[in-house]
Amino acid sequence: MRLALSKIKSQLFSTLICGLATTVMVMGISAALVPLAQGQPDHRVGLADNREGYESEHYVSRSEAIIEQNGQQLSMASEPHAHQLGLPKLTHPLRANEIDLGRQLFFDRRLSANANLSCAMCHVPEQGFTQNELATPVGDEGRGGRRNAPSLYNLAFQQSLFWDGREQSLEAQVWSPLLARNEMANPSKEAVLKRLNAIPTYQAAFAENYGQGLTSQTLGLALAAYQRALISGNSAFDRWYFASSQNAHSAAEFGAEATRGFAVFQQQGCHACHTLTKENALFTDGNFYNTGTGLLREQRGIMPKRVQVAPGIFVTPRVDVETETFIDNGRQEVTGRSEDRWRYRTPTLRNVALTAPYMHDGSIQTLQDVVTFYVHGGGQDPNQDQRIRPLDLTPTEQRDLVAFLHTLTADNVDALVADARSIEIGDRDNSRH
Ligand code: HEC
Ligand code: HEC
Repeated sequence: MRLALSKIKSQLFSTLICGLATTVMVMGISAALVPLAQGQPDHRVGLADNREGYESEHYVSRSEAIIEQNGQQLSMASEPHAHQLGLPKLTHPLRANEIDLGRQLFFDRRLSANANLSCAMCHVPEQGFTQNELATPVGDEGRGGRRNAPSLYNLAFQQSLFWDGREQSLEAQVWSPLLARNEMANPSKEAVLKRLNAIPTYQAAFAENYGQGLTSQTLGLALAAYQRALISGNSAFDRWYFASSQNAHSAAEFGAEATRGFAVFQQQGCHACHTLTKENALFTDGNFYNTGTGLLREQRGIMPKRVQVAPGIFVTPRVDVETETFIDNGRQEVTGRSEDRWRYRTPTLRNVALTAPYMHDGSIQTLQDVVTFYVHGGGQDPNQDQRIRPLDLTPTEQRDLVAFLHTLTADNVDALVADARSIEIGDRDNSRH
């Protein structure tokens, strides 16, 4: 499937309200491919168009079109991919065919009720498998979500899912976005299964992988297989900290600023929650804490703000009062305990330089601003964790800390993008359902 951007754009504008996230996605991809066309280094992640004048409807993108899907597939089930420096051993086997099926589903817009949203539109590979452009995503028919889309790297090692930890299993988790009214908006599991079961390539692939058809269970298994394979370690930090022989090369690559920044990270107790051990570093303990972001959000007001989704086009996401309020109590919604109000799961810091904006509500734009947030003692909520308190850090120490956070980007992030773009997006057999 090859589509000119102009064609996609005109389709989008005519169906703007049900395709908001699509627009964002198109901008993301097209922008990301520009440097390739100009023969610059093949680094696609995190790149975006020059946004000068973006608020005008006369804004012209430097990108011409979505070029063909020409990425190189990774062998994600292979030993070197499964075992990367700095990460624990996988407990789950990775199977190539199952990953292929999951990848196909992840990019298929037919998974949503209006065939307008795929998983990848909120978890954009070029944008660290999250969305860099929106603090909180816009789903079906312009309905707004209340939380920032988390990045999907290294889910295989995560004990609980979502910012409030309400789900444990990746297999079961898929039904949450599929059925949420403000995400993919399917009316029922049966409706999804019926639609996908009518597509011959899926019938065949599910039979081959599971010896049975597409069921609520096998759909979860396939999507989980792809997501679990998004393993991404071996960063400059890992090569410096975990390599068996620390050598001059890894030290030089890590750099003096980051070395000082890592010392700050430990001295200031960041590692109490963003943990690491002698063997590996997930940079999260999987627990839930109040850092004061809930109070700040309440002080700002709870209704969604106007967002820009395309040149000259601003919308205020719709909120369905009956299905979703913008009140967010965090972990308390799962445990019912009042002390868990505004506690959120510690996010991993791996690949954090790619996954802006930050925090459960996407309220902080840059890593420098996150550091400033901590220096000011978080949100200064009397109920926040005692360890979040004002820090005495010089501007240089703050810059060093940010430099350290930048060394946590894995060496395979571009390869994972290329792998994602190795497939045609959905609709292989051109059947529309
Ligand atoms: C409309 C945007 C949107 C779409 C479409 C979407 N997601 Fe998400 N995803 C989110 C948001 C927002 C969250 C965080 C929700 C929360 O914490 O309550 C999330 C959370 C997740 C998580 C938990 C990650 C973690 O670290 O805890 C996984 C896994 C995930 N999504 C996978 C998927 C899959 C698979 C699909 C397709 C079936 C999908 N998402 C479709 C927005 C989206
Ligand atoms: C008490 C536990 C705790 C400590 C100590 C802590 N953090 Fe955090 N960190 C969290 C939690 C919880 C969040 C998510 C808060 C939210 O979403 O509202 C977070 C979010 C972040 C984020 C944003 C990540 C993302 O993907 O959104 C960064 C970056 C970060 N912390 C860095 C640090 C640094 C640097 C320090 C030390 C100065 C530190 N943290 C200390 C618990 C902690």
